[in-house]
Amino acid sequence: MKKGILLEGVSKSYLSEERDVTPLKNISFRAEPGKITSILGKSGCGKTTLLHIISGLERLDSGEVKFFDEKGKVTNDVNLSLVFQEPRLLPWKTIRQNLALPIRYLNQTEQDRLIREALELVQLPGIESMYPENLSGGMAQRVGLARGLISKPDVLLLDEPFSSIDFMTRTQLQRDLSEIQRKKGFTTLLITHDINEAVFLSDEILCLEDGEITKKITIESPKPRDFGDVNLSRYQKQLFEYIIK
Ligand SMILES: Nc1ncnc2c1ncn2[C@@H]1O[C@H](COP(=O)(O)OP(=O)(O)O)[C@@H](O)[C@H]1O
Ligand SMILES: [Mg+2]
Repeated sequence: MKKGILLEGVSKSYLSEERDVTPLKNISFRAEPGKITSILGKSGCGKTTLLHIISGLERLDSGEVKFFDEKGKVTNDVNLSLVFQEPRLLPWKTIRQNLALPIRYLNQTEQDRLIREALELVQLPGIESMYPENLSGGMAQRVGLARGLISKPDVLLLDEPFSSIDFMTRTQLQRDLSEIQRKKGFTTLLITHDINEAVFLSDEILCLEDGEITKKITIESPKPRDFGDVNLSRYQKQLFEYIIK
């Protein structure tokens, strides 16, 4: 069953002698099961902190992070996966060895099958024996995505996964992620500062500003979407006007 994410009044501060920062003041939202929800915000507004709190890498000060199933029932039975801004592949390991890490408890045959499937999904079949240094930036990020998908997560958390990639490659990756998500149906929380990326990929966009969700937009356009889709341009305009003040 698909799983959704529910945040209730989440806050987080970093206190130090030099300065106190409160990136998350009072965050509440739902990311619906099987949908792509984006958190859109400027650099430094707390997006990574939010993702780390949801994934359990970082502790919150107050509030709660919960997961729920399609019937709305709260559950702890959720398989989460996080894809970082950089691919973070281990350079001394082959692609096969890198992809085997999240599934190392499975036997060799099963690992091989899942690795083959994941590489096919990100359109890089047959690169198991290559090393990360032989991949382009776009290919490495595809492998990062494959590693995120290999354990068949209920919830995929993506932290600006395409932000360091050139425009054309990024556009292909966005289209491919949209297709993969449609095919597999996992719940996706995408962190981004890219308005066009958020509009193209999302079912729902939440704007994060000064530690709070200040705006929520539902993107009504059906999928698969076209990059030139005129239905999307009004959402882009609305967000540009809202964010670029
Ligand atoms: N471990 C930390 N210690 C102190 N301050 C931090 C830490 N992590 C993040 N911050 C601060 O919290 C704010 C939000 O950071 P971050 O969540 O990384 O923003 P974003 O991902 O939106 O760029 C920034 O001001 C950053 O300097
Ligand atoms: Mg960040």
